[in-house]
Amino acid sequence: MNDSWPALLLDWYRAHARVLPWRNPPGAALPADPDWPYRVWLSEIMLQQTTVEAATPYFHAFTARWPDVAALAAADDGELMQAWAGLGYYARARNLLACARAVVADHGGRFPADAAALRALPGIGDYTAAAVAAFGHGRDAVVIDGNVERVVARLLALAEPLPGARTRIRAALADVLPPGQAGDLAQAMMDLARRVCTARAPRCLACPIAAACAGRQTGAPADFPVKPAKKPRPTRQGTAWWIEAAGAVLLVRRPAKGLLGGMLALPSCDWRGGAAAPPLPGPWQLLGVVRHGFTHFDLELQVAALRLPARPELAGDWVAVAEAGEGLPTLFAKAVQLALAQRRDDGTMGA
Ligand code: ADE
Repeated sequence: MNDSWPALLLDWYRAHARVLPWRNPPGAALPADPDWPYRVWLSEIMLQQTTVEAATPYFHAFTARWPDVAALAAADDGELMQAWAGLGYYARARNLLACARAVVADHGGRFPADAAALRALPGIGDYTAAAVAAFGHGRDAVVIDGNVERVVARLLALAEPLPGARTRIRAALADVLPPGQAGDLAQAMMDLARRVCTARAPRCLACPIAAACAGRQTGAPADFPVKPAKKPRPTRQGTAWWIEAAGAVLLVRRPAKGLLGGMLALPSCDWRGGAAAPPLPGPWQLLGVVRHGFTHFDLELQVAALRLPARPELAGDWVAVAEAGEGLPTLFAKAVQLALAQRRDDGTMGA
């Protein structure tokens, strides 16, 4: 790869940069506004799991309601959570408040410019720290998100898969960082990644840095970044118990921490696969198995049923059988469907 690409990309960015409310125009000095880093930080937290299109109205609403970090730090928690509704991932909204309060308490109401000090704040990781340092303060920080990774992995035709390739991507960018323009270069790569160097079908004919791109020379630029070999997902086994008495079935709330935390469910074992003792002794009938894919494993959940003449003393909520599937996460909704399909009015269950 030759090293002329940052200058070519910055030229392209000057002509094609998206205009965004938290973005400084290309080549311009940063606004003198002392709340500029606050705006950058707010946008970056919103953009962590959300598109620019979805985040923009929230950004306007937040900056109108809380124009600086001190105002946000003083916000009522409930009002802020309500304003965040729709952006999802409420832990981020809680961190947003914690971070604003830490900036007021520990930094005199000004976001620090140093990436290490930024990283020490709640909800700020490597990426956001570098983004606030570069876009908010004009520091020469290396800003790497998934889009930047894709562009650089292609430019270098990196054979090493992510995440291992990140070290080389960081080093390659640090080598060519144009002083004073780190923010522009990172945002140029973001725009290029979204408009030209797209994940599936890169438009190399429209790319201002195609001549410098080793990925293009391979003839298969979309093969970069190389994906890590997939680990086979393990399958786990467990049992869920349908306990029915007098037209109602027992539901429990899962512990707040862990999978499906805090959600309503049928009582079940810990899905570790060992023989699990049911909550009650009795003539349990095995109804069948439902399958569900979680991020890191597949689950085969046996469903066993017991119908009793009267409600036993067990912790949980008794819910009318006809309403038992409502509001349950998909796994347990599948288990309830299986039970309902096999339930007979003579008081027995089974296929
Ligand atoms: N995604 C996160 N930050 C961004 C920015 N400043 N410009 C474009 N996309 C982004």
